[in-house]
Amino acid sequence: SILIVDFGSQVTQLIARRVREAGVYSEIAPFNAAEEAFDRLKPKGIIFSGGPSSVMWEDSPRAPQRFLECGLPVLAICYGQQTMAHQLGGRVAGSDNREFGRAFIEVVGASALFDGLWKIGESHQVWMSHGDRVEALPEGFSIVARSEGAPYAIATDEARRFYSMMFHPEVVHTPDGGKLIANFARHVCGLAGDWTMAEYREAKIADIRAQVGSSKVICGLSGGVDSAVAAVLLHEAIGDQLTCVFVDHGLMRLGEADQVVSLFREHYGIPLVHVNAEALFLDGLAGLTDPEAKRKFIGKTFIDVFDAEAKKIGGADFLGQGTLYPDVIESVSFTGGPSVTIKSHHNVGGLPDRMNMKLVEPLRELFKDEVRVLGKELGLPDIFVGRHPFPGPGLAIRIPGEVTKERCDILRKADAIYLEEIRAAGLYDAIWQAFAVLLPVRTVGVMGDHRTYDSVCALRAVTSTDGMTADIYPFDSAFLARVATRIVNEVKGINRVTYDYTSKPPGTIEWE
Ligand code: XMP
Repeated sequence: SILIVDFGSQVTQLIARRVREAGVYSEIAPFNAAEEAFDRLKPKGIIFSGGPSSVMWEDSPRAPQRFLECGLPVLAICYGQQTMAHQLGGRVAGSDNREFGRAFIEVVGASALFDGLWKIGESHQVWMSHGDRVEALPEGFSIVARSEGAPYAIATDEARRFYSMMFHPEVVHTPDGGKLIANFARHVCGLAGDWTMAEYREAKIADIRAQVGSSKVICGLSGGVDSAVAAVLLHEAIGDQLTCVFVDHGLMRLGEADQVVSLFREHYGIPLVHVNAEALFLDGLAGLTDPEAKRKFIGKTFIDVFDAEAKKIGGADFLGQGTLYPDVIESVSFTGGPSVTIKSHHNVGGLPDRMNMKLVEPLRELFKDEVRVLGKELGLPDIFVGRHPFPGPGLAIRIPGEVTKERCDILRKADAIYLEEIRAAGLYDAIWQAFAVLLPVRTVGVMGDHRTYDSVCALRAVTSTDGMTADIYPFDSAFLARVATRIVNEVKGINRVTYDYTSKPPGTIEWE
């Protein structure tokens, strides 16, 4: 395995992800807890992450010195490069010449990192992000790649197997970065590269058992992929110590609630409490039109209902959650920062405190696409695993204005037609998210010889890698015309269909 020493970079988890992609197991430990992790893991190689500090600052973090003395290979990135240089007797200086973003480096020397990949004289794109720079290299180091702004772009001591770089190999903007990391993991550290998601599953099952012991766990299901994968994994680990609670707010898509119930009860035989709370949610939503008021009501009511059910089940010490890594970064980087609430996200974040429960979050290190791979590994049906993301507040935030049962039913029908056509055209997997929105406006139309005066439906489809930014999906007009015709013909209450051409930013993916 490889130990990743975290100095607080926003993208440390991407390093772990690249190592996993190379088929090697890795764990991340904060710099000040890295020694314990090292002793437990007995890694074959170490990676130092980047971080926001400067080695010029007093009290800025250092790697445990023994990591540089134990004879293992070390790959040091950005801040990691600076602290490595500093700890090995080089000199680091502050710099006014900060370099961020795309840069090109020239390969000027040989390195084990480049084997089968880069040759001397070639130029390669990388993603620079640094302020300070190394001014004098430690003894034994030489430069193997440089750019004008980054004379020590990559500096290595091939004999001691120390590799340091000023740029981020882990981000996608360094196109060969994953291969550099793979060369480090397999070629330099000599790891086999045969680690798979099947092993992740086994390792997590062991972790869950160790964490939970003989305690009971309650897990909330949302109908989405993440909570379903977390629940199935928990069930594999602890069997009937797990109870799942599905708070059905009645704001799901067509047929979705039934699918969740039958998947859990029939397919997996997992104990599931299905709470039909549609009336409670719709009653509370009556008269609410402000998007934040709707979101807050749904979030709070969800917690109330879940809490009441958990009390009925009684005696659970743990709450199981399908938190993913992107959820973790968002909450970490926004804590205490001067960030503005764009939308109050609905999640069960308030629950553990209120219920006095500990958390078990087996997906915390994974990205969405990795969760999908794990879901397949656990035997979840493809149609479930590949499903587009769906927001916690459900259809309520796709019905601007007041939400009623009637409007939910209209929207469900239009949405189902849209998705059916997308699947039929083979486009479902090329799209991050596609859905219909039911607008609170009525317009005039004509059907047969009659005047109609009905609602407008908007169609949205975007591509994205993480939901943070998004581009519109460019359907051809024949496709859109087909969907529009079907919706107006088949869904009573809608007489006009529009397509949303707004990217994110400036739009958001959901309309509320
Ligand atoms: P926006 O609309 O902010 O959405 O561009 C980004 C992604 O997040 C999803 N979304 C939510 N997911 N609870 C969730 O679990 C929420 O309250 C929520 N609101 C938006 C949205 O569907 C998109 O994938």
